[in-house]
Amino acid sequence: MKVSVSVLKEYDKLISAVENVNKSNADYLHVDVMDGKFVNNVKFPFETVKLVKNISTKPLDVHLMVNDVKTVIQYANLKPEYLTFHVEIIDDVKTIKYLKSLGIKIGLAINPETDINYLKPYMNDVDLVLFMSVNPGFGGQSFNEDVINKIKEFKKISPNNLIISIDGGVNDKTISFCKKAGCNMVVSGSYVTNCDDYNKQIKNLR
Ligand code: DX5
Ligand code: ZN
Repeated sequence: MKVSVSVLKEYDKLISAVENVNKSNADYLHVDVMDGKFVNNVKFPFETVKLVKNISTKPLDVHLMVNDVKTVIQYANLKPEYLTFHVEIIDDVKTIKYLKSLGIKIGLAINPETDINYLKPYMNDVDLVLFMSVNPGFGGQSFNEDVINKIKEFKKISPNNLIISIDGGVNDKTISFCKKAGCNMVVSGSYVTNCDDYNKQIKNLR
């Protein structure tokens, strides 16, 4: 199980949180970009992510909770390992094809209320699907178990090599649901960053 650590809850001590992730055996650093429109919170403006990219020794897993495709293209300039944006903001495959032509791995995130049929037109063109197990916007919320059946249903129709990731409320209890559903990557924020020993928490998720 790949583990991507979100430092959202440590936003006011961001540099030390990024350094803690550097020191840990996390696979990715998850960066939650919020524009105040797609979600009711503003976090990680472009210059902040640029700074994070400079100090992180982990590959970046950027999760864009933004309304505007132009913003997605702006963050693509940072060439993260994964650039994930929401299926709810697109209506054709053009943007994905363009981003792929830049050599970036692309993810599509899906909110708890959104039907998996919305993923169908894009699932052969992306590298990852990020299932939200909370309503996006804030860290520290509790895991919505309804997502598990949704992932199971999606796996029946999706390409085999697609990475299935999950984000929101993942901890040492809810991780077993994620494994059963067939996720091969998890995003975890507060469960990891609320503890001084990031590696101990990460180990419980693997
Ligand atoms: C929520 C974010 C998550 C969040 C996860 O909008 O997308 O990545 O930081 O935090 P926890 O693990 O605390 O739910
Ligand atoms: Zn996220």
